[in-house]
Amino acid sequence: MRIDILTLFPEIFQNFLDTSIVGRAKNNGIVEVNCINIRDFSKDKHKRVDDYSFGGGPGMVISPEPVFNAIMSAKSERCKTIYLSPKGRTYKQQVANELSSEEHIILLCGHYEGIDNRIMENYIDDEISIGDYVLTGGEIAAMVVVDSIVRLLPGALNNQESFTDESHYNGLLEYPHYTRPRIFNGFEVPEVLLSGNHSKIEEWRKYQSLKVTYERRPDLLKEAKLNKTEQEMLNT
Ligand code: ADE
Repeated sequence: MRIDILTLFPEIFQNFLDTSIVGRAKNNGIVEVNCINIRDFSKDKHKRVDDYSFGGGPGMVISPEPVFNAIMSAKSERCKTIYLSPKGRTYKQQVANELSSEEHIILLCGHYEGIDNRIMENYIDDEISIGDYVLTGGEIAAMVVVDSIVRLLPGALNNQESFTDESHYNGLLEYPHYTRPRIFNGFEVPEVLLSGNHSKIEEWRKYQSLKVTYERRPDLLKEAKLNKTEQEMLNT
């Protein structure tokens, strides 16, 4: 997969892209990530990329030309161009799953009052918000998107890091985990986990997963596809 990030602040991404699972996936050729500085496409002698808003009002708007040229420099035949903004559709695991099967995505990060709307209207395929709050720019949102997609790519996680049991994978929150010591500050690990009885452990985990989802996110249960055993557990 290829991901191009168009930003005015490429330096924000440096450590993030070279660290942990994303860094490893890049080194292993599972994903190619490029940061493209929108300012490099400014024709202004001072490399300005913003201007006043037509109609007046405070705040600067990013001019369409450098953004358009940056998009064109990255574009490929089968790519999806996504703008990160608080006005976009809300980002969920389901969206990460969808995007992880794309061949090439371009993530456009906005700043100031946003980007000239003619870019949105004509050159953007999708607009994503990572939540109902306003960030100073789209960069952190782009990192959230990259991180959540890369870990889904085949080969990005090893067996120990498998995502099939974790929160949101099957529409539920994940069961709790424990490691050594068996007693910590007087608090014990649940007995069943030490029993070696794998079907009992699996049943306990399924129950815990349903319980925590019921207690914290009952909204998720409405959407989750539960089998008969899970339905029964939930009704007890
Ligand atoms: N840019 C500013 N706020 C944002 C948000 N909540 N999601 C995505 N991009 C943003």
